[in-house]
Amino acid sequence: MTSTNEIRRSFLDYFAKAGHAATPSAPLVPYNDPTLMFVNAGMVPFKNIFTGLETPAIPRAASSQKCVRAGGKHNDLDNVGYTARHHTFFEMLGNFSFGDYFKETAIEHAWTLLTREWGLPKDRLTVTVFHDDDEAHGLWRKIAGLPDDRIIRIATSDNFWSMGDTGPCGPCSEIFYDHGDHIFGGPPGSPDEDGDRFVEIWNLVFMQFDQQADGTRRPLPKPSIDTGMGIERIAAVMQGVHDNYDTDTFKALIAASEQLTGVAAQGDHAASHRVIADHLRSTSFLMADGVLPSNEGRGYVLRRIMRRAMRHAHLLGASEPLMHRLVPALVTEMGQAYPELTRGQALIQEVLEREETQFRRTLDKGLKLLDEATGDIATDGELDGEVAFRLYDTFGFPYDLTEDALRARGIGVDKAGFDAAMARQKAAARAAWKGSGDAASDEVWFDIAEREGATEFTGYASTSGEGKVVAIVKDGAEVASAKEGDVAIILTNQTPFYGESGGQTGDAGRIASLKGFAGEVTDTAKPLGRLHAHQVTITAGDVAVGDNVQLEVDNARRDRIRANHSATHLVHAALRNRLGGHVTQKGSMVAEERLRFDFSHPVALTAEDIAAIEAEVNAEIRANEPVSTRLMSPDDAVAAGALALFGEKYGDEVRVLAMGRPGKEGRNYSVELCGGTHVRATGDIGVFRIVSESAVSSGVRRIEALTGEAARSWLVGREEALKSAACVIRATPEEVPARLAALMEERKRLEKELAEAKKALALGGGGAAGGSAASADEEIAGVKFSGQVLEGLDPKELRPLLDEAKKRLGSGIAAVIAVNDGKASIAAAVTDDLTARFSAVDLVRAGVEALGGKGGGGRPDMAQGGGPDGDKASDALAAVKAALAG
Ligand code: SER
Repeated sequence: MTSTNEIRRSFLDYFAKAGHAATPSAPLVPYNDPTLMFVNAGMVPFKNIFTGLETPAIPRAASSQKCVRAGGKHNDLDNVGYTARHHTFFEMLGNFSFGDYFKETAIEHAWTLLTREWGLPKDRLTVTVFHDDDEAHGLWRKIAGLPDDRIIRIATSDNFWSMGDTGPCGPCSEIFYDHGDHIFGGPPGSPDEDGDRFVEIWNLVFMQFDQQADGTRRPLPKPSIDTGMGIERIAAVMQGVHDNYDTDTFKALIAASEQLTGVAAQGDHAASHRVIADHLRSTSFLMADGVLPSNEGRGYVLRRIMRRAMRHAHLLGASEPLMHRLVPALVTEMGQAYPELTRGQALIQEVLEREETQFRRTLDKGLKLLDEATGDIATDGELDGEVAFRLYDTFGFPYDLTEDALRARGIGVDKAGFDAAMARQKAAARAAWKGSGDAASDEVWFDIAEREGATEFTGYASTSGEGKVVAIVKDGAEVASAKEGDVAIILTNQTPFYGESGGQTGDAGRIASLKGFAGEVTDTAKPLGRLHAHQVTITAGDVAVGDNVQLEVDNARRDRIRANHSATHLVHAALRNRLGGHVTQKGSMVAEERLRFDFSHPVALTAEDIAAIEAEVNAEIRANEPVSTRLMSPDDAVAAGALALFGEKYGDEVRVLAMGRPGKEGRNYSVELCGGTHVRATGDIGVFRIVSESAVSSGVRRIEALTGEAARSWLVGREEALKSAACVIRATPEEVPARLAALMEERKRLEKELAEAKKALALGGGGAAGGSAASADEEIAGVKFSGQVLEGLDPKELRPLLDEAKKRLGSGIAAVIAVNDGKASIAAAVTDDLTARFSAVDLVRAGVEALGGKGGGGRPDMAQGGGPDGDKASDALAAVKAALAG
């Protein structure tokens, strides 16, 4: 028997020998194609090559592409388990010519591989061509020698293939295998074609057009070839079985499910085993490619598939979660061909187990409600849409799970009623929001969110990708388009741009379309917590709702934000280690240029605290451990030691970020719940520097810090300042502290000496001190008078100076004015023998008035005062003399 793995290898080898580049499967999530939910055909990754946007290195390729058909144009979910050939996940083998060979070579290769390499009997093969494709018809005759009745012309869309509502398309030619007359069915185009005898195994598409959104078709630059052969179907043929689920891969998976549940694979429960085997593949491969269960978009499709499988596990009587225990069997079968499956195994098992544990909590109750509600519904009846909605809303039953559960009993579901109940709930949520007093402008966001659903954020995995414009908002209202010069908010169905939330600033970057539109995204907000609103300044062209746009995050800026965000987690852990468990985050701001972290702590950090925290964070950075992200329920996350923000609301799933070295109990240095974007490994942060520590409010401190290049240039700036300082004082940077201390000491000493020198000068009398003017002793009104104005004299020195003057005069009056910083102080003294005639207080008051001041006080023998007008010192002295003269 030829195994599926051998078939894959042999297909790729054959086409590699024929000059094709064997290309690894692209991920299931087409980040570069917003029109598709999942890659649904082998040609999807080559779409831009077909349309001429990209040029391949070699014009021929071959691949075995992972495909999921569980949403969008090609959706097989409902049928899986009940037919021989429907799958949510399958592999498509394909050979591609990008403007190189066309119909003839494509037909030659297909025929040679099937009949010569693989030895399929010619008489079992029948082909179809598009009704007017005489060329293909002639080629099949020539190359395969098939008679006319086995080259069937088909006029319907069956023989015209298109990827989706838009994109490359063209007429096709399909190859059918006749499984034998023991199976009911007729050849394609016959009345019995829907039977299962003739099975399409290979589709050769003659790609010629690019389907536009407006329904027109543009010719592709060059006619090309896209072929697709489901590996499961050809494996069935080559392994001599009729049913895909009887091929080696499925047999192994079903055997594992049989063994773990103890329920026979054949008989009543065959469909459940098939559903489980199929859904195990799609869910595991989706998770390996980064999709995780959620309540929106791709994540919700994944959850729907999972829950459908989990209900079937429940039907098989599994008393424990089952799906995760089947993953090893899948890895054994397919891990070699798809190494991402092996790499993701731990995550896949963990998520499946958690999801199943969680779902099982409500599954029983939901099924009971379903039984009660359908007890008296006859076959062909319908379940009330309200009940289906309650099952969805309260018990986590996706709509199609309810449908699937009732299928065996021939009961349908009232879809319109379900939709109406859903709409009512949304309206109630909107009303509640409005009641909370938020701005009326939120209306526009509600309109968009309800119509379009949440924006899918693709920016954890990639910083560029395509999106489809779903809304444009200008001046608070929705518009259909915007043009050059406008500033508008553009929303797309998916985006790699992070919307500001959780303290992390929104992304900036560029947005453009092939139609010549270009704009600068200056910021991205996250209204309602689920829409990513790009703030765009349009620099060229027009953009309209429905356009596909290329989104490119400013990567360097995002890297700086990542480094700052991850450093915030590390500093949080370091603060707790150093200061204690009372430290909790009170707020944070992660921007491009710096980070800010507010935390509870009663007192200022000491310089030693700051140094130790900084050193600890830098040690974690140098350890360069990879940063890991896991998805968990909030409770599990807290149990795993994640620091959860008090009072923060989390959904039913949280991202848990672990970074730094493993410490006690194997727990990482930092474990936190976080939806932000982070570095791959701590080493990417580069360097961490705290630049300030301050108080925000009582009991809350704030640290501001820098990382990477910002920290480096800050440090360099400090170094430069130190060097210039050293240069000024003619020292080396190392000598600066000691030299500055010595200089300060010296300055103190000099100031003291200078003060003494000024005093000495003043006492010496008559001379100029510090540029001051002084007057010699004179006689006024028959008494000796000494008057002086001294610039820069410390007012404290006034009294000792007057004491000296009194001594010198023996009997007389002295007045001194000290001028400092433009202001003046005045003091006067009268020797005891004269106090009966003169009062120092009166003399000072006269001087103070001249100095623009008021008052002055003391005793008759000694008084003091001052005024703001230092430049009136001479007038003041004159006023004193005048007062003395009477
Ligand atoms: N694109 C075509 C298909 O999916 C052939 O590869 O059938």
